Amino acid sequence: MPHYGDYQTEIYFQGLRGVLPKYPVDFAGLLARAQAAMSPSTLKYVQGGCGDEHTQDANASAFKHWGLIPRMMVDCSARDLSIDLFGMKLPSPLFMAPIGVTGLCTQDGHGDLAAARAAAATGVPMVVSTLTNDPLEDVAAALGDTPGMFQLYTPKDPELAASLVSRAEAAGYKAIVVTLDTWVTGWRPRDLNDSNFPQLRGHVLENYFSDPRFRAMVGKDPKSDLQTSVMTWAATFGKVLTWADLPWLRSLTKLPIVLKGICHPDDVRRAKDEGVDGIYCSNHGGRQANGGIAAIDMLPGVVEAAGDTPVLFDSGIRSGSDVAKALAIGATAVGVGRPYSYGLALGGTEGAVHVLRSLLAEADLLMAVDGFPTIKALREAGAVRLPG
Ligand code: FNR
Repeated sequence: MPHYGDYQTEIYFQGLRGVLPKYPVDFAGLLARAQAAMSPSTLKYVQGGCGDEHTQDANASAFKHWGLIPRMMVDCSARDLSIDLFGMKLPSPLFMAPIGVTGLCTQDGHGDLAAARAAAATGVPMVVSTLTNDPLEDVAAALGDTPGMFQLYTPKDPELAASLVSRAEAAGYKAIVVTLDTWVTGWRPRDLNDSNFPQLRGHVLENYFSDPRFRAMVGKDPKSDLQTSVMTWAATFGKVLTWADLPWLRSLTKLPIVLKGICHPDDVRRAKDEGVDGIYCSNHGGRQANGGIAAIDMLPGVVEAAGDTPVLFDSGIRSGSDVAKALAIGATAVGVGRPYSYGLALGGTEGAVHVLRSLLAEADLLMAVDGFPTIKALREAGAVRLPG
């Protein structure tokens, strides 16, 4: 039975023929290479975060104070990393978090399609952002047999919201992920100092430009008058959602609804009471609020309050060990964000596939060495919070 960890055998054997990996297998190396490859504005947009970026740094460094206690004399020669999520049987617990400038991360401006092809090649699902450079239908087609979920930035115009959701459902997405923490943009010094906000420059708005309701709002072909279209977009982006909106959201779709950005146990309990299907614990990678607490440190409270409700997690995942730790703490599925953007920037689909395979290989090998043949075993063992 093939294992994700076999990727390292592949790399070592290629080395015997003098072939070295095209892309770094570690995050630091990946970032260094991406910094050289990306345009300064896209790099700043992807790499940057809110305020002095303390929270986004903490998201990644906090994994260092979580640890797994190895178990020995366990047969881990066969390992199963598959999970069930909303009725889907997924080969691994990894997914690609929604990244609104994915389209800009490849030279050809079709990074969303490249990412979807990486999903198709690896079986790692993609949560497709509302903000894409190709329409959600085209991105869905590029996913092949790998499932996708659609992330909704809820517009103020209810008909536009309904249209986006019904298009996503028709295109075959398996869940609607409603992002709660971005009705207004957080204070991002890197972008502010360059006065750069890609959407206002007409980027990543294809889902709007291809939408019948949005086109009616603009009153003409959105591409024939970019300024009017961007202003129409800016005026409708970012509905302030409250709990009172949930029945309306529910009425828009039969698909599972996942709330992204939930970090407080009371919000988890409220979401469950309101019939939400999944909780997505995330602080948006520290891009939206510089609140100071690492997402992984909020995960235990979320998991406990969630009970049987699936918990998706992201923010700070930089390695396969991070993936394993988040699973041990109780996440059902773990999202990778910035690292796959850097993979796309370096090598398009191939670069993103490499990043996903590296994360999965490291997680799989950690589980193999530490005595956890399944995610269930890993979760039962749990993770230890070290002092500090
Ligand atoms: C994001 N994120 C995001 N989230 C979302 O719900 N919709 C979106 O369109 C975007 N766009 C976006 C752009 C960029 C450049 C980044 C880096 C992030 C947040 C994303 O889904 C995820 O929560 C974070 O990326 C997780 O943090 P790390 O692990 O990337 O640091």
